[in-house]
Amino acid sequence: MTDTTPGGLENLLSEDRRFPPSSEFAAQANVHRDAYAWADADRPAFWAEQARDLLDWTTPFHEVLDWSGAPVARWFADGRLNAAYNAVDRHVEAGRGDRVALHFEGEGGDTRTITYADLQREVSKAANALAALGVETGDRVAIYLPLIPEAVFTMLACARIGAPHSVVFGGFSAEALYSRIVDAEAKLVVTADGGFRRGAASALKPAVDEALAKGESPVEHVLVVRRTGQDVAWTEGRDVWWSDTVDTASDEHTPVAVDAEHPLFILYTSGTTGKPKGIFHTTGGYLTQAAYTHKAVFDLKAETDVYWCTADIGWITGHTYVVYGPLVNGATQVIYEGTPDTPHRGRWWEIIEKYKVSILYTAPTAIRTCMKWGEEIPSKFDLSSLRVLGSVGEPINPEAWVWYRRVIGGDRTPIVDTWWQTETGAIMISPLPGVTTTKPGSAQVPLPGIAATVVDDDAHPVPDGSGGYLVVTEPWPSMLRGIWGDQERYADTYWSRFKDLYFAGDGAKKDDDGDIWLLGRVDDVMNVSGHRLSTTEIESALVSHPWVAEAAVVGATDETTGQAVVAFVILRGDAGGGEQSADEVQTTLRNHVAKEIGPIAKPRQILVVAELPKTRSGKIMRRLLRDVAEHRQVGDATTLADASVMDLIAQGLSAPG
Ligand code: WT7
Repeated sequence: MTDTTPGGLENLLSEDRRFPPSSEFAAQANVHRDAYAWADADRPAFWAEQARDLLDWTTPFHEVLDWSGAPVARWFADGRLNAAYNAVDRHVEAGRGDRVALHFEGEGGDTRTITYADLQREVSKAANALAALGVETGDRVAIYLPLIPEAVFTMLACARIGAPHSVVFGGFSAEALYSRIVDAEAKLVVTADGGFRRGAASALKPAVDEALAKGESPVEHVLVVRRTGQDVAWTEGRDVWWSDTVDTASDEHTPVAVDAEHPLFILYTSGTTGKPKGIFHTTGGYLTQAAYTHKAVFDLKAETDVYWCTADIGWITGHTYVVYGPLVNGATQVIYEGTPDTPHRGRWWEIIEKYKVSILYTAPTAIRTCMKWGEEIPSKFDLSSLRVLGSVGEPINPEAWVWYRRVIGGDRTPIVDTWWQTETGAIMISPLPGVTTTKPGSAQVPLPGIAATVVDDDAHPVPDGSGGYLVVTEPWPSMLRGIWGDQERYADTYWSRFKDLYFAGDGAKKDDDGDIWLLGRVDDVMNVSGHRLSTTEIESALVSHPWVAEAAVVGATDETTGQAVVAFVILRGDAGGGEQSADEVQTTLRNHVAKEIGPIAKPRQILVVAELPKTRSGKIMRRLLRDVAEHRQVGDATTLADASVMDLIAQGLSAPG
């Protein structure tokens, strides 16, 4: 369990640097230490107060938490509200229409400034266009867009109608898109001709065409934003341009009030089996925790801060901390379409200087990449506007944490290492910047209102100084309400390992002060650059190629991406793969995985082997393969059915390809 930790457990727990908040920061902070005791005294009452404080309800709720249908929670269930109204209209009605909601920065340097009043008009137009295309309350809409303002407009337009959106990351393949469209039975797909990536136009529409050509689909229309100007194939009657439908629609639209438990969105994520899970979130509880955590963890001051979360809207971080949290809180934020090194490696820091960004939220993999590029690059820019730095997606190594604070934060900014998941909907474990004395590498403590701990195999909480599994012990407002179309799988995946405890799938340790250190996944889920990938899903993709008889995939520790995908394959004797060079096999299979799942799932390395190490019951011993992939002495192999297999693998690898 501990072998997935960058740097290793011992290394982590000998970390003794401490960073208390400055007295100036503590004095002005949104949330103080007393919040913990207040929330502990009556957790539902604490959340009810946040829900009333942070959101506008068309019908106020009286019920707070209903856990009688566990493990499916109902929060604020007799209340009604609209998410888009909360994120947009009410700010305009309160006289804040001129405040900038989005500073959009295109990769090529084109910009767009969108105030809350602009946002209200754009979202209303999009909602009217969606309705004209037949989208009704409860219908699902698939969104396959680059990070451009229209992506935000579309998500909010769906929310305005009460049509759950299912955003599919633009880096996913046609195959992945198709299975998500079918699973959610989406009626409409919103896409673009393409987006800009690494200085070039990268097409999106062809993947939608390919997806919809795969078979039966529930899709009636494809709404296409013109972004790059690339040529696109066109299906008359099905495809419509954004400019013809949205731009011409009325900019007045009345938001549809929905029940607090009405589904807001579905987001697919990798699990331990091949089939991605459609995690779905509902409206009232999700928005409450999104808004509260965004305000508490980043100490947001909506009037003065400029906030930037670098995540794409294709991930949960983009849902909660680009769209819903910040906009419900009336924040001003930056969104950036492109990559950090286009056209130069100082691009992010240039954006921070230009917009005077004060809160930055990004991932450890990005920080490690910038460390590799060298601190001369950020040091050329004025980063003095920054006052809070956040990290999310995987454990952050203490060295990257300290570098982030020193080089980007000028040795001044608190760092919040935030642990959460697609399933939890919002941040669960994190320091509070005005309260917590931070420790590099630790997410530390559950937020006020959240009850989480570390347990052993028998579900007993471990004493301080010991390791085990991270669990959440009480329901929380933004918890997933299930897996779309498969509630049995929901109960099995999260609630069967330990009775009445939510099992997150992460290993964790409590240090001597009781602070929590995350140690990586304990299941067959990998974390590559903060993106979740399933070993089984990639194995299935490999085996779907005619050359491959069998495949085993492991996540190997990688200096930059946290983990990297390494695949071991056995080729079929009769299929032609054996006659190819090792290079040819590797290239072909890597491209095949990209086609089946998406470029992010491409193995870093594919090794052709004659046998795979298996136990007598036929289970692949990934632990041994990980030893090989990480160039370690192979560990205990005594439970193998055939003990010579590891020697065979080792010999095969040292022989010239
Ligand atoms: C998994 C969830 C939450 C948005 C991004 C990823 C890992 C996430 C941390 C952190 C250590 C972390 C866990 C978790 N993870 N944040 N601060 N420290 N590990 O969302 O794709 O649903 O992945 O990411 O392993 O289970 P996701």
